[in-house]
Amino acid sequence: MYEIPYHKEELSQYSFLITGGAGFIGSNLVEYLLKYKAKKVRVLDNFSTGSRENIQPFLENPAFELLEGDIRNMEDCRQAIAGIDYVSHQAALGSVPRSINDPITSNEVNISGFLNMLVAARDAGVKRLVYAASSSTYGDHPGLPKVEELIGNPLSPYAVTKYVNELYANVFSRTYDFHAVGLRYFNVFGPRQNPRGPYAAVIPLFIEAAIKQQAPVINGDGETSRDFTFVENAVQANIKALLAADIRKSEIVNIAAGQRTTLNELWQHICRIAGIDISPVYQAERKGDVKHSLANIGKAGELLGYKPAFTVLNGLDIAMEWYRRHTVV
Ligand SMILES: NC(=O)c1ccc[n+]([C@@H]2O[C@H](COP(=O)([O-])OP(=O)(O)OC[C@H]3O[C@@H](n4cnc5c(N)ncnc54)[C@H](O)[C@@H]3O)[C@@H](O)[C@H]2O)c1
Repeated sequence: MYEIPYHKEELSQYSFLITGGAGFIGSNLVEYLLKYKAKKVRVLDNFSTGSRENIQPFLENPAFELLEGDIRNMEDCRQAIAGIDYVSHQAALGSVPRSINDPITSNEVNISGFLNMLVAARDAGVKRLVYAASSSTYGDHPGLPKVEELIGNPLSPYAVTKYVNELYANVFSRTYDFHAVGLRYFNVFGPRQNPRGPYAAVIPLFIEAAIKQQAPVINGDGETSRDFTFVENAVQANIKALLAADIRKSEIVNIAAGQRTTLNELWQHICRIAGIDISPVYQAERKGDVKHSLANIGKAGELLGYKPAFTVLNGLDIAMEWYRRHTVV
């Protein structure tokens, strides 16, 4: 992956901190930065949902540093940020159902941990912090496609935490002359996304079901739709947001493919790629989920020069290939 560079600058002059770098999106970003010879790529992760396997390929690279620690601990944040130019903050507890089951831990990690990182980054004088925001912030706003200014009421504790991140980043920009860009990701998928556990996302679950020739479970009637975004598009957005010149101190942008796919269509695509014909099992809709999601990605294009290089179908081919190599049947 990452055959196309998304930056013009020489990365060897900069040190990067990726919080949550042992997770799905974070480890893909680490892969990109190391491939293009960043001076230093440091990961801060507590391995709560990420894995050592995700960072195994980087351990021998002299530019890679691992700091096992927790963003809820201020000292860990300060240590992680020392000597860093740019921060990409990916560490958080994802998943709407997880936050409904345990709102307190989601709040501690996603809000208090985020605030720790902001304070540490402000004090260390980093050039910019880019952070993982979320399309869940659109909540119950009915408009499609989603535009950054129009949000509704949050539908889950997770959505609250991600919205509070945006509010804090904005206040830090106004109050402390701090530079922050929030990337509202829409359902990111691709290599290294965890297919296991009760909070796994739909694409890895579907792909693993297809590889094992089992029926997937669909919550609802399958007409729920999402703007599924291949991870390389999210990496492109991070790189461009970190290095963009001449942008305002505080920005929020949608990061997506700009295409809507229903769960039924998604399963049909996966069946076609896998060469199978299996009907899904339908069950009740989940609490906290929105019915439809689609991003307007115009702002990311204008501001950052973001242009998704991968469609859902291109991304599914690559993801399927990766899971085939990593799934024990
Ligand atoms: N994957 C998506 O579709 C999606 C969509 C919207 C937003 N996001 C956000 O993007 C970010 C990355 O998501 P992901 O899908 O890669 O998830 P992930 O779970 O694979 O990665 C999160 C990483 O953060 C680490 N982490 C969690 N709590 C921590 C703590 N207290 N201290 C240090 N590290 C900690 C985990 O161990 C993991 O490695 C998250 O902030 C998530 O909320 C993801």
